[in-house]
Amino acid sequence: MYYPDDIVEEVRSRSDIVDVVSGYVKLQKRGSSYFGLCPFHNEKSPSFSVSPGKQMYYCFGCGAGGNVFTFLMEYENYTFSEALKMLADRAGVELPKEELSKEARAQADLKATLLEINKLAANYFYYQLKQPSGKQGYDYLTGRRLTDDTIRHFGLGYAARTGNSLYQYLRSRGYKDEILKETGLVTIEERGSRDKFWNRVMFPIMDVNNRVIGFGGRVMGDGTPKYLNSPETKLFDKSRNLYGLNFARTSREKYLMLCEGYMDVIAMHQAGFTNAVASLGTALTSQHAALIKRYTDQVILTYDSDGAGVAAALRAIPILKEVGISCKVLNMKPYKDPDEFIKNLGADAFRKRIDQAKNSFLFEIDVLKRNYDLEDPEQKTRFYNETARKLLEFPEALERDNYIQAVSREQMINYQDLKQLVNRLAGRIRPGMVPENRGPSSPREKRKEKEDGARQSQRLLLTWLIENPELFDRIEGIITPEDFREELYHQVAVMVFEDHQAGSLNPAEILNHFINDQDQYREVAALFNASLKSPLNDEEQKKAFVETVIKVRKNSLDEASRNASDMGQLQEIIRAQGALKTLHISFD
Ligand code: UTP
Ligand code: MN
Repeated sequence: MYYPDDIVEEVRSRSDIVDVVSGYVKLQKRGSSYFGLCPFHNEKSPSFSVSPGKQMYYCFGCGAGGNVFTFLMEYENYTFSEALKMLADRAGVELPKEELSKEARAQADLKATLLEINKLAANYFYYQLKQPSGKQGYDYLTGRRLTDDTIRHFGLGYAARTGNSLYQYLRSRGYKDEILKETGLVTIEERGSRDKFWNRVMFPIMDVNNRVIGFGGRVMGDGTPKYLNSPETKLFDKSRNLYGLNFARTSREKYLMLCEGYMDVIAMHQAGFTNAVASLGTALTSQHAALIKRYTDQVILTYDSDGAGVAAALRAIPILKEVGISCKVLNMKPYKDPDEFIKNLGADAFRKRIDQAKNSFLFEIDVLKRNYDLEDPEQKTRFYNETARKLLEFPEALERDNYIQAVSREQMINYQDLKQLVNRLAGRIRPGMVPENRGPSSPREKRKEKEDGARQSQRLLLTWLIENPELFDRIEGIITPEDFREELYHQVAVMVFEDHQAGSLNPAEILNHFINDQDQYREVAALFNASLKSPLNDEEQKKAFVETVIKVRKNSLDEASRNASDMGQLQEIIRAQGALKTLHISFD
């Protein structure tokens, strides 16, 4: 933690979560909470709740949850200190500068310096491009039909043939080898230092906040590698950045277009498609998908039309689906990539292709078909079977049927026949598709169910206590933090009980203790937001509460008895187990 707890807490308490979240999500009041469509997963009816009382958000659909800091961290991709700074600014709280720990300060300084150097380098390359000595690079870019505006907009530049001019320039600006070697822009060796990029046109890579975090360089002509990219540095993580996203994020379109290359992004933007991005020199990762999901849940894939591009699209589709992004695939033929397409047929033709982009599932079926010789009855049958099997991917009957219709139309397969085939396969492969038919679960599953049940009770209890602190009186002498057996639950329970004693129960503040560990804070957020399936009336609520208390206590005692190490302990536990049978909780 870089800042002292009391400052963090001051910022948090002066940043009302409903206020902050409302800036991003349309919220409506329902009961004591606000609800809206979850920004972290794809949904049609609102299960994202923001509680002014708890100062927390929680999504009952995807389990995303946290306080005002984590909201910004997830939504804006901020680090904790970035979120803190933003909120401090907003609330008018002055943050102490010198409170950073030495190590943290050094890290922050290092990053800031690297950003500074990258910016200088980008300016340097841009300057070179416009010099007489950079004519080759400039001619190359204009030869590829880029306008001066586009070159400026993307900050394109040129790295000359000379071996170390950037290095010398950066040295002249006062940067030492020690820091320069962290930039990935130069190779520092005893015999002398060299620029990593030379004889290339340069593409600065920016993060969503327009900060230069790395570079790609394209060789002039046919050398190899065609594109050279910055290595991973403290700033540059290929799997978490998308080229062009700094511009595309503010485009008006509802969808993003995902392509393979620098030149594709630039050509598309120049032609007016400012919602194009690319994953660079690497296949799409689930981090990329999560990043995209922050801005949209619709993607049009505009990968190359060659085999590699098709394979990349087939890999990308499930990764995008996984995070709730639906995608379509654009047909680029007869051209290789968006750059060539637009150069040859222009923006209007490209727009038409966007309108005709194919649903990703139908695209997958199309690709599948290429593996079969449909003149051959046996292969044709296999293609139909494989298609039917793929259709089983859709668990919802209605959606599945829509796809059966679409596939039968596209592939000219008789609808009834295809439907029958799918249903037959469903019966054979996945009898469990109808959940009621589930057989008896294995002992392993049973144990897991039991553990989940115990956890669920602990979560419920903590949620209830937080929402109704008067319930603490009801469990006095029955439940202590020790009854929360799981390490994390225990830590949280200790804080909840202590806070209650001190008269200041504050879930969002407790949550903040876990902010450095994403998995933990998610779980803690869930701890404070357990929910019963349906709203209960008063009597049922009381009964459920008593049952939950008993479950938590019983589970705790069972566990204690498993771990008991001597007779005395065991007798004590057995006595407590007996007492639990006659437990009475009064609500009067
Ligand atoms: P392509 O080989 O399809 O190049 O690589 P391109 O984008 O059509 O390039 P031009 O039009 O010939 O200039 C697509 C992307 O893959 C990465 C780059 O990000 C490139 O834009 N790549 C390619 C590399 O990182 N290294 C390489 O050697 C080649
Ligand atoms: Mn190309």
